[in-house]
Amino acid sequence: MLKTYNCGELRAAHDGQPAVLAGWVNRRRDQGGLIFIDLRDRWGITQVVVDKESAPDAHRNANESRNEYVLQVKGHVRVRPEGTSNTDLDTGDIEVVADEIVVLNESKTPPFYINKEDTIEEGVRMKYRYLDLRRPRMQHNIITRHRVIKFIRDYLDKRNFVEIETPILFKSTPEGAREYLVPSRVHPGKFFALTQSPQQFKQLLMVAGYERYFQIARCFRDEDQRGDRQPEFTQLDLEMSFVEREDILQLIEGMMTELVETIATDKKLLFKPFKRLTFHEAMEKYGSDKPDLRYDLEAIDVSELAGKSGFSVFVSNVADGKPVKVIRAPGAGALSGTALRKQGEELETIARSAGAKGLAWIAMPEDEGGEVKGPIGKFFTVEQKLELFEKVNAQPGDLLMFISDTRPVVYAVVDALRRHLAVQLKLADPDVVAFAWIIDFPLVEWNTDEKRWDPSHHLFTSPKSEDIHLMETDPGKVRSNQYDLVCNGYEAAGGSIRIHDRALQEKILRLIGQDMELAQERFGHMLEAFEYGVPPHGGIAPGIDRLVMILAGEPNIREVIAFPKTQQATDAMVNAPSEVELHQLEELHIRVQLPPEEKKK
Ligand code: AMO
Ligand code: AMP
Repeated sequence: MLKTYNCGELRAAHDGQPAVLAGWVNRRRDQGGLIFIDLRDRWGITQVVVDKESAPDAHRNANESRNEYVLQVKGHVRVRPEGTSNTDLDTGDIEVVADEIVVLNESKTPPFYINKEDTIEEGVRMKYRYLDLRRPRMQHNIITRHRVIKFIRDYLDKRNFVEIETPILFKSTPEGAREYLVPSRVHPGKFFALTQSPQQFKQLLMVAGYERYFQIARCFRDEDQRGDRQPEFTQLDLEMSFVEREDILQLIEGMMTELVETIATDKKLLFKPFKRLTFHEAMEKYGSDKPDLRYDLEAIDVSELAGKSGFSVFVSNVADGKPVKVIRAPGAGALSGTALRKQGEELETIARSAGAKGLAWIAMPEDEGGEVKGPIGKFFTVEQKLELFEKVNAQPGDLLMFISDTRPVVYAVVDALRRHLAVQLKLADPDVVAFAWIIDFPLVEWNTDEKRWDPSHHLFTSPKSEDIHLMETDPGKVRSNQYDLVCNGYEAAGGSIRIHDRALQEKILRLIGQDMELAQERFGHMLEAFEYGVPPHGGIAPGIDRLVMILAGEPNIREVIAFPKTQQATDAMVNAPSEVELHQLEELHIRVQLPPEEKKK
């Protein structure tokens, strides 16, 4: 080793001992006869002192060094003189007095400061990701990710799970997200698809008798990018045989609880045990199947009351079976006239962009006997107002927002307003993690564009046995054995108890409009396997990137992936995707036909 200690290790107890350090110049201060270098490595920073008089060669090298030079420093440890300790550093009580400095490598001036927590333009960070990854925040995230994965492996190993790798080159099954295709050279005109998840393999491993499988699995989906989505991402993929829903929920709940309590010790679990909501409850209360439950802002149904008010929009909506819901924002009504109106307009803009036709509101007076403000107060009688305030538990200074439309629009608006208000009113504690299970999802949802039923989760998810009789008559009412783990407004995991019966699997394929011949071509291997003794089984897949993002307190998953893709689904560092040479395409029997707008570039 070129070092005997790392840069985070030395303490006052090492006083007088020889030490060799190696790392990067984080900062250099030249005080004439003395040069101070903060030397940085993965473990921390140690101050190095170089004295021109006692070590002239070392001083010359220190003098020529610049930020990010790689140095080896040989010297001895010295407790810093009284009053010069640095309490910001773990090693702040000591310094290393250099006898010899070897410049192991020089560095150009980096395009951004490594030693400052600056806001750096993301494009530059992505292009020079290897420099970005030197920053302590990124090192913390990447190391947290390692710890999370190590914890998961140990946790599952202790419980008799086997980690099994499954293929990445898979077959195209286009009913999920859009796939990445890989042309086959040896089979002209044929393609592999990169796995969107190892779903079918893990079920086949249950048929194969492994009973407890997991994998830290890479998944590929050609989806539109968002802060919590990447084209390639990592799941903890897991499957178990002879289990019921409760077994999976308990296993994962135990894992997540212990994970937070051992790895993310600065985070507090809000729910122990985790909260549980049915899909229906989640949508009705929070307008989302992945609600952020760190704050309340629940939508309360006031249809009955509003339907009797003098506001014609509500009256006719309620008559048409459309609900009226109220969100109560604590304290948001306690504003002066103009500020209140401006806030009302801002909230209405958010509601409209989520699909609402307007946003009526009422501001509660701050003092008793004060005046109720807002555009629709006049449409409610005094008694109706009192009933309303009681129903939504309105307190002085609160703002009540009314949302009325078809259920899907109401849900979207409630979700958008909740997310906005949480930021505006600082309601989401960044140190809290609020895990909750969403259960009893609908089995299928109506795809209005394609005019067909699509599986809510995937087509291997089993219906609840008590709802199977509705499959032919009222498919939209059938609930499934799907469960999602949500946390702080994100979907952290999704899973289900599977179908293990060929006849039922075929029935689902028919329900979602799969032509049997095509289904045979695409899923024949599954249907065939289902004829050879299939154990009842189920599983789940937590998204590792999202989990680490939440635990590291980061706003997007790019911050916890060493080499992520950009928002435009490119790799800005290696410059991919890129064009390939003609002979490569010829070998693959592929001809590129660019869309007209690309040709112009
Ligand atoms: P699902 O599609 O719900 O289920 O995915 C499981 C979890 O993976 C994460 N995730 C993503 N993370 C980052 N970028 C993406 N593009 C992305 N897509 C999904 C989410 C999500 O909850 N095979 C099933 C699981 C099962 O049924 O066992 C599956 O893949 O955190
Ligand atoms: P109007 O009578 O059109 O001036 O509307 C009075 C108030 O009701 C305004 O603040 C509108 O934004 C609001 N509003 C109109 N339609 C709806 C609706 N469907 N849901 C909630 N508020 C509405």
